[in-house]
Amino acid sequence: MVILRSQAEIDQIRESGRVVASVLSAVSEAAAPGVLLSELDALAAEMIAAAGAKPSFLGYHPSWAPIPYPAVLCLSVNDAVVHGIPDHYRLAEGDLLSIDCGAYIEGYHGDAAVTVAIGQVDEAAQRLSATTARALAAGIAAAVPGARIGDISHAIEAVARGAGYGLPAGLGGHGVGTAMHAEPSVPNTGRAGRGMVLREGLVIAIEPMLIESGADGCHTAHDGWTIRTDDGSRAAHFEHTIAVTAAGPQILTV
Ligand code: MF3
Ligand code: CO
Repeated sequence: MVILRSQAEIDQIRESGRVVASVLSAVSEAAAPGVLLSELDALAAEMIAAAGAKPSFLGYHPSWAPIPYPAVLCLSVNDAVVHGIPDHYRLAEGDLLSIDCGAYIEGYHGDAAVTVAIGQVDEAAQRLSATTARALAAGIAAAVPGARIGDISHAIEAVARGAGYGLPAGLGGHGVGTAMHAEPSVPNTGRAGRGMVLREGLVIAIEPMLIESGADGCHTAHDGWTIRTDDGSRAAHFEHTIAVTAAGPQILTV
């Protein structure tokens, strides 16, 4: 069932979104060569608690996962696309790091992600990351009342394929509200003019993940969570939670 949100509910999601955005910016600042992923996760845990919020990911246990998610952030390095578990890996110069954060206050979730360069990255990584951010912007711009889910999917896919990048099959965005993952699903590939009509009050996370090689293949690693590219090429990931409103799409994770 798709739930449309009142202005008051959208404002509550925006409160959580503000916490998520401040965590992403602090973790982005802290992410540097020599830093452990576990240190970044601890920073996020502290900030979320200090804001009076709770982490959405910690303990989350969808039916497809062998264990509940064991951390606050998803930290995905290089060929890890999403859902990387923060461990004792030490970031190195040239790594491409995706930081994904979810938090909730009074039951309302916000969910967002950014990809950042660790030290200096090569030009190919910069282009991959910038194009993924552009795919997110294109997806958000398509989220207006009266448009369809497929318009968002098509906008993302056009940017990604147009630049020669791959898109992991089966991974995409989702409704957000009193659950972190709700209906509808928001695929990163699809045809314009198809799918559910977008109405005022719809709150969704839009999250393109682009693969450098142009191939789409991905698999789940042995930890049961981390999604990696099949060919080992790098991926980037950006995400915002947005509301569809009469005034156009509103980004709630800023
Ligand atoms: N933004 C990610 C997603 O929507 C967050 C995953 S959270 C996890 O899939 F708990 F499932 F890891
Ligand atoms: Co998400």
